[in-house]
Amino acid sequence: LAVLAVASEAFPVVKTGGLADVIGSLPKALLSQGIATRTLIPAYPVVLAGCRDREAVGQMSLLGEDVTIWAGHCNELELLLVDCPALFDRRGGPYLDEQGNNYQDNWRRFALLSAAAARIAAEGVEGWRPDVVHLHDWQAGLAAAYIRAASLDVPTVLTIHNLAFQGQFPASVFPALGLPSHFFHVDSLEYYGDISFLKAGIRLSDAVTTVSPTYAREILTEEQGMGMAGVLQSRRSVLSGIVNGIDEDIWNPLTDPYIPENYDLQSIERRRANRDAVERFFGLTPGDGAILSVISRLTWQKGIDLLAPVVPGLIDRGARLIVIGEGDPAIVYGLAEQARQHSGRVVVHLGFSEESAHRLHAGSDIVVQPSRFEPCGLTQLYALRYGAIPIVARTGGLAETVIDANEAAIAAGVATGFQFHPGSIEDLYHAIDRALTAFDNSQSWRRLQTRAMRTGFGWGRSADRYARLYRQLVRGRAEAAQ
Ligand code: ADP
Ligand code: GLC
Repeated sequence: LAVLAVASEAFPVVKTGGLADVIGSLPKALLSQGIATRTLIPAYPVVLAGCRDREAVGQMSLLGEDVTIWAGHCNELELLLVDCPALFDRRGGPYLDEQGNNYQDNWRRFALLSAAAARIAAEGVEGWRPDVVHLHDWQAGLAAAYIRAASLDVPTVLTIHNLAFQGQFPASVFPALGLPSHFFHVDSLEYYGDISFLKAGIRLSDAVTTVSPTYAREILTEEQGMGMAGVLQSRRSVLSGIVNGIDEDIWNPLTDPYIPENYDLQSIERRRANRDAVERFFGLTPGDGAILSVISRLTWQKGIDLLAPVVPGLIDRGARLIVIGEGDPAIVYGLAEQARQHSGRVVVHLGFSEESAHRLHAGSDIVVQPSRFEPCGLTQLYALRYGAIPIVARTGGLAETVIDANEAAIAAGVATGFQFHPGSIEDLYHAIDRALTAFDNSQSWRRLQTRAMRTGFGWGRSADRYARLYRQLVRGRAEAAQ
């Protein structure tokens, strides 16, 4: 079975978050299920630089732009690149300019990506055509509309990685999308007088998934549906949650090239060297107190604003905190202020560094993820694999991938971390307090680490679920055609 995956980022060529990790690792897992994926992403400058063995496999005119399609490889990924310098050859990131503002023409940039997906589904490249088109997030959502508009017989799946980002734009851009006018309709793109690319994907794809079963339930409620609960309810019969896996080759403490000392469950004492390295590298005052880390976008979604208020209590308990990330200036300011007041005990590193992320998972005692909502979350999975104990909010994928160390779970020997009520500073502090108490007992801590590291978070079961979904959709189409 051949799948065309469509997304705005893919590890290792371009990454701003977990979406890239999923796009980069799922194809490898699907291959063992007999499913060959080609992944279509925009040819941003970093992508062209990171994918050198490419060759042109198509030329097309889309939305009035001349577009080249390149085929190339990166690691095990089979990439197709949508090259349109007018839209993608920019300084700045995939979505934001150098000043951190959204590109004004993001609607056009990702409409073009989506239109390219539909064209490839229709005409193929070099004789290759997909049996299924898998769209990821709003940036690819409009492909479902272009595929419908062209009456293609290829089934589509939309995966929602984060309902907070909906690709909402003024109705005035609709004519430039090149879709028939009846698509400007409440059953299609129209969203409270605007248009929404994500809504197009939700309404017009054959199946809709999100990245954990818990999040799939949460987004059907008014409180967590982010204005899309009704739209999602209308697709309830085709909506499911498939939890993300991780790339167990890239996130493997035994072979990780970024960390000073490799280790596994049998040699967990070697983690110590990574811990020492973290202290040195981040300039912490050396000590025995627990090292807590946060590796995250520094935003309200991630609950990072809850951290500054718990710092004094954490310091009183002898613990230390490292935060790495970028995001909301007010949140950054609050944390920087704590770092100033508690020098050597609180460190804030602004920026995005794959190497630092690996080192922190290998050398911290605890990784904190206080998200207000979290579709899946990958950081807690990496933490578990590396024996850094997660403290997470009880929401979305976090709720189902970390088992809280309450008395029953400890007695049953299944606990892997600590949970608290999302959004509550008091409860976050309580969870930190519980974790630090457990940390003081080296035997019980080692038991927690052992269970965390034994938890399996590879793609196996989830890749199987995607494979079954694809096959079911292809069968459905064939039956309908008879
Ligand atoms: P989200 O996609 O919502 O940001 P996830 O937990 O799914 O959250 O994925 C976040 C990904 O981004 C992980 O791979 C994590 O290691 C990475 N990441 C986040 N912040 C940083 C950072 N400052 N430096 C390096 N990697 C980061
Ligand atoms: C989004 C979500 C995150 C999820 C990731 C990959 O960025 O915020 O929870 O893990 O996508 O699916």
